[in-house]
Amino acid sequence: MKFSAILFAALADATAIPSESAFTPGADSKYTISAPGIKAQFIEYGATLTNLFVKDKNGKDIDVVLGYDDTTYYPKDPGHPVYNSIPGRYVNRIGKAKYTLDGKEYITEKNDGDNTLHSGTNNWSFRFWNVTALTPESITFSISDASNSSLGMIGRVDSSVTYSVSNSTWSIKMTASSPDNKTPVMLTQHTYFNLDAYKNPATPLIWDHTLYLPYSKRYLEADQGALPTGKILTADPGTINDFASKPGMMFGHSKSDPKFQGNCGADGVCEGYNGYWLIDDAPKDAVVLTLASPFSGVKADLRTTQPGIVLYSCSWMDGSAVLKASTQGLNSTQKVVKSSCVAIEAQDYPDGINHPEWNRTDAQILGPGETYNWESSWTFGLL
Ligand SMILES: *[C@@H]1O[C@H](CO)[C@@H](O)[C@H](O)[C@H]1NC(C)=O
Ligand SMILES: *[C@@H]1O[C@H](CO)[C@@H](O)[C@H](O)[C@H]1NC(C)=O
Ligand SMILES: *[C@@H]1O[C@H](CO)[C@@H](O)[C@H](O)[C@H]1NC(C)=O
Ligand SMILES: *[C@@H]1O[C@H](CO)[C@@H](O)[C@H](O)[C@H]1NC(C)=O
Ligand SMILES: *[C@@H]1O[C@H](CO)[C@@H](O)[C@H](O)[C@H]1NC(C)=O
Ligand SMILES: *[C@@H]1O[C@H](CO)[C@@H](O)[C@H](O)[C@H]1NC(C)=O
Repeated sequence: MKFSAILFAALADATAIPSESAFTPGADSKYTISAPGIKAQFIEYGATLTNLFVKDKNGKDIDVVLGYDDTTYYPKDPGHPVYNSIPGRYVNRIGKAKYTLDGKEYITEKNDGDNTLHSGTNNWSFRFWNVTALTPESITFSISDASNSSLGMIGRVDSSVTYSVSNSTWSIKMTASSPDNKTPVMLTQHTYFNLDAYKNPATPLIWDHTLYLPYSKRYLEADQGALPTGKILTADPGTINDFASKPGMMFGHSKSDPKFQGNCGADGVCEGYNGYWLIDDAPKDAVVLTLASPFSGVKADLRTTQPGIVLYSCSWMDGSAVLKASTQGLNSTQKVVKSSCVAIEAQDYPDGINHPEWNRTDAQILGPGETYNWESSWTFGLL
């Protein structure tokens, strides 16, 4: 057991179990892996990616994900935005904090209005994972999640995530098993990007980035609490939720549309996006999403085995969170302001366990003898 891990746990939550990794981080408290054109750093808390360095158009290494310089702050952060971590065992919302499995109703924790978000307040993004393998180019984190440690999630789940880098690509592979019971399992890497590393003097906002989702004309309608209603809608070209009709559209292409304020609910308060886009008929290994920024010149291509993508454009960032001043921003006083980042989360249909009509139940319920698999990769290049 490492002293640092014990200290973090004590500060965060007396009941949090410190990690028992077989490896120790570097002097900067992070685990670092690297390959040509890319360097990624991690901590055990939440199996979190803290830094991701890629080349910008000037050949400089820039850190394109959000986080904190002070690694001890992650467990203390009252905002807990789930920065680049794995919020299992069932990510996103569970409508009305309940689900039915084999005729039995299970009650989950209400931590997001009437709904459950990311399995509740003991979600995996709040735990210290164990590092169980480490090479110069890859790292594996493991977690054993006891039955009912997130309320209403019955049966032990063992899971691991392997992050690896090669030639400007960050790859993520997750597996999980549930040896004793059937239980909902749905995972994601909750990655927050600003491809300018907050160094664009014109704007810290995310709206000047471009976004293309070539296979995602359809999206899930959501209510004011960002919970899917069940309806699947199609975005007409040029409308607010369209990122499919042509490459290189500005992320903020609709920001002057009066409906943009409130497009992600909260009775008009949530600006921009916090929803789910379906990936339809994508060939295997196709790039399903391209995020880019003309300012830095960085382009990020996502490939995934998942059937859709959550986009959240950071409307709830209220300017209180500090940036990583060592690698991001124009000066050390800059904060993470509203709509200055985007979280991109490849995952299955949110609340699919409560929507049998979507036919996602088999993919979202894991039982004895089965293995859950999740894979994505981000390849970085220049515009
Ligand atoms: C995950 O757990 C943490 C710690 O209890 C909590 O603060 C956070 O709200 C949870 N995450 C979400 C998004 O529900
Ligand atoms: C880490 O490993 C220890 C020892 O095997 C175990 O007790 C602990 O539960 C593991 N931590 C997690 C998060 O699974
Ligand atoms: C899960 O934990 C809650 C709260 O501790 C308890 O009320 C409930 O009975 C537990 N459920 C099961 C199936 O053990
Ligand atoms: C690295 O990636 C670039 C761009 O995708 C590609 O052109 C190049 O062949 C790759 N190099 C290796 C060694 O795989
Ligand atoms: C730091 O940068 C922000 C964003 O560009 C700016 O609003 C602020 O005035 C700057 N502060 C100082 C002290 O230069
Ligand atoms: C679910 O399956 C049924 C029967 O095959 C089909 O009619 C329906 O369109 C499917 N639903 C979705 C959302 O794909």
